[in-house]
Amino acid sequence: MLHSRILVLGGSGFIGTHVVSRLSAQGRRVIVPTRHRERARHLILLPTVEVVEADTADPRAMASLAAGCDAAINLVGVLHGSAGTGADRWGPQFGRAHVDVPAALVEACRTQGVRRLVHVSALGVTDGGKNTLPSRYLRSKAAGEEKVRQARDLDWTILRPSVVFGAEDSFLNLFARIQRVLPVLALAKPEARFQPVWVGDVAQAIVNVLDAPATTGKTCALAGPEVFTLRQLVRLAGTWSGHPRPIVALPAGLARLMAMLMEWAPGEPLMTRDNLDSMALDNVSARPIDPDLGITPASLRAMGPSLYGPGDGARYDGWRSQARR
Ligand SMILES: NC(=O)c1ccc[n+]([C@@H]2O[C@H](COP(=O)([O-])OP(=O)(O)OC[C@H]3O[C@@H](n4cnc5c(N)ncnc54)[C@H](OP(=O)(O)O)[C@@H]3O)[C@@H](O)[C@H]2O)c1
Repeated sequence: MLHSRILVLGGSGFIGTHVVSRLSAQGRRVIVPTRHRERARHLILLPTVEVVEADTADPRAMASLAAGCDAAINLVGVLHGSAGTGADRWGPQFGRAHVDVPAALVEACRTQGVRRLVHVSALGVTDGGKNTLPSRYLRSKAAGEEKVRQARDLDWTILRPSVVFGAEDSFLNLFARIQRVLPVLALAKPEARFQPVWVGDVAQAIVNVLDAPATTGKTCALAGPEVFTLRQLVRLAGTWSGHPRPIVALPAGLARLMAMLMEWAPGEPLMTRDNLDSMALDNVSARPIDPDLGITPASLRAMGPSLYGPGDGARYDGWRSQARR
């Protein structure tokens, strides 16, 4: 069955923008809630897309958004959040984005009769890992997955991407930009391993999964064909951007201290202690993409020069400022 009216939470973000564009190009109606309409203005011109300002952690708001939809996709996620206290195990930001939002979405799907739900989690999360995984990011993501998995009356699929690359990503672009301005790069956890997956493949996998009943009740990794250490990725980003810099590995204690200082600096931190904790686990998968998802993953090594080459920063910066990110 082809789902024709789809609620996309997190549709204004990096991956969400690609998903919404693909759904709209197929002529499907797409509802994109956002906390700030301005952030989603790049979607407003797309035919068949409706951008709605709403609080997606509020069950009543979610129910009214889900009304009349026949499928929902959850792409809400944050990378940083302050520590929790007492019973608040993940801290307010992780708890809200990774646990409260999926819980409210599951409830809304139930009350509004929306059976199909695609939930995007993260590679490194394990079933039942909400108490055992090394970071609050991963533990809160595991708790969010649990909310979805417990919804036995819904047709859910959970997808776990590794780090996602693309012209507008905030991972390799960050390392490319840093190397344009700094003569040397001090790197925490240089031997942490990743299996980067192209945003186009992630978006297409999400779209394919929607109408693939074989993926119902499954949890699938989304990873690329190559494994890199963080040091290799940073070196490639520097080389492709035309500014390869020497990389110095930071000892663990110093890396933690630097991350703590970054947490205290104003604005979005470049790195937090929780990010370091997440990198205690390799971000790789033995089975990059399940054959049921219909994707042959693209190679970062092949695409990198055209994505991060000199001059591409302008395109990237233009997109970011357009989307106010
Ligand atoms: N990018 C990666 O490398 C990567 C890797 C693994 C997993 N993932 C997962 O994939 C999903 C999408 O990632 P992305 O890179 O596209 O993220 P993104 O660009 O940061 O976008 C995140 C989206 O979540 C929404 N959001 C954030 N906090 C929210 C909150 N508290 N309540 C409601 N909405 C909130 C934002 O919507 P508004 O600001 O418009 O409200 C935004 O559209 C996330 O779940 C992420 O954890 C991403």
